Amino acid sequence: MFSKVKKQKILVVISLLICSLFLAAYGDNLQPAAGDPVEEQENLEFQQPEGKKGILVISFGTSYPETRKVTIDACEEKIAESFPDYEVRRAFTSSIIIKKLKERDNIIIDTPEEALSKMKEEGFTKVIVQPLHIIPGYEYEEVLAVVNNFKDSFEQLTVGRPVLYGIEDYKQAVEALKQQLPALDKDHAVVLMGHGTTHPANACYSCLQSMLDDEGLKVFVGVVEGYPGIDNVIAKLKRNNIKEVTLMPYMLVAGDHAVNDMAGDEEDSWKSILEREGFVVNIYLHGLGENIGYQEIYVQRVQDCIDGNPLGIKEE
Ligand code: CO
Repeated sequence: MFSKVKKQKILVVISLLICSLFLAAYGDNLQPAAGDPVEEQENLEFQQPEGKKGILVISFGTSYPETRKVTIDACEEKIAESFPDYEVRRAFTSSIIIKKLKERDNIIIDTPEEALSKMKEEGFTKVIVQPLHIIPGYEYEEVLAVVNNFKDSFEQLTVGRPVLYGIEDYKQAVEALKQQLPALDKDHAVVLMGHGTTHPANACYSCLQSMLDDEGLKVFVGVVEGYPGIDNVIAKLKRNNIKEVTLMPYMLVAGDHAVNDMAGDEEDSWKSILEREGFVVNIYLHGLGENIGYQEIYVQRVQDCIDGNPLGIKEE
């Protein structure tokens, strides 16, 4: 019953493609003569019947439902309300989390591959893939690789960049972080727990630190897996005569790492280590996804995709 509509759509798509090829080749000679509004009007109407547009929001995922609701769900909802013409879908990159949610909670979550296959089958023509990842590490590269397999499946397929990417992006990330910082008096500092990676993108954390230093913020970045570790952070805290610390995850969600490795009571948690070193420790157990500033960063990433500038390159 859709075949007639579909045929029309295909015809329109083909015609549009031919038009754009023609424009690309002869565009310079096709500048509409001034005072020729009729033709432009027709072109606008001609472009009206568009295919389905979708945004696939991809995150690592978390098996902690409370934090998922206020971080991943909240970011997806923010994106959905910002782009009402687009249907927003979800995928997680962690197969372990997908499996756990299915077995424990009977919640079915797609992998990026499954989500894109479904969107293809359902006739989406324009798809934006927006990762909620923080750094362009292995997870992000995996998203790029999966998307690449679908490059011929949609008219338009664009991937947005993660939070920490270009220099302006770091500035934006620091501004957004300020919204969740406590008042930092003389001997009180914030310690951020990033994830860390063996990927060269681990350098993102040091770049973030450098930007925080530029702003004169007493915020120190460490990571769970890699450099700089909590020992490096403690050395810095001591050099700066810090006595009190507020621990915050620099991760999308306050999941396993935040709850256990950061704030847990086990002797090797950051909280326990810092307390043994004599620091007064406060815990801020909220993922970045809860921060409106970070939600807005993701919205901006999607907007950059729509504007044809997914990497956010500023023209000189
Ligand atoms: Co981890």
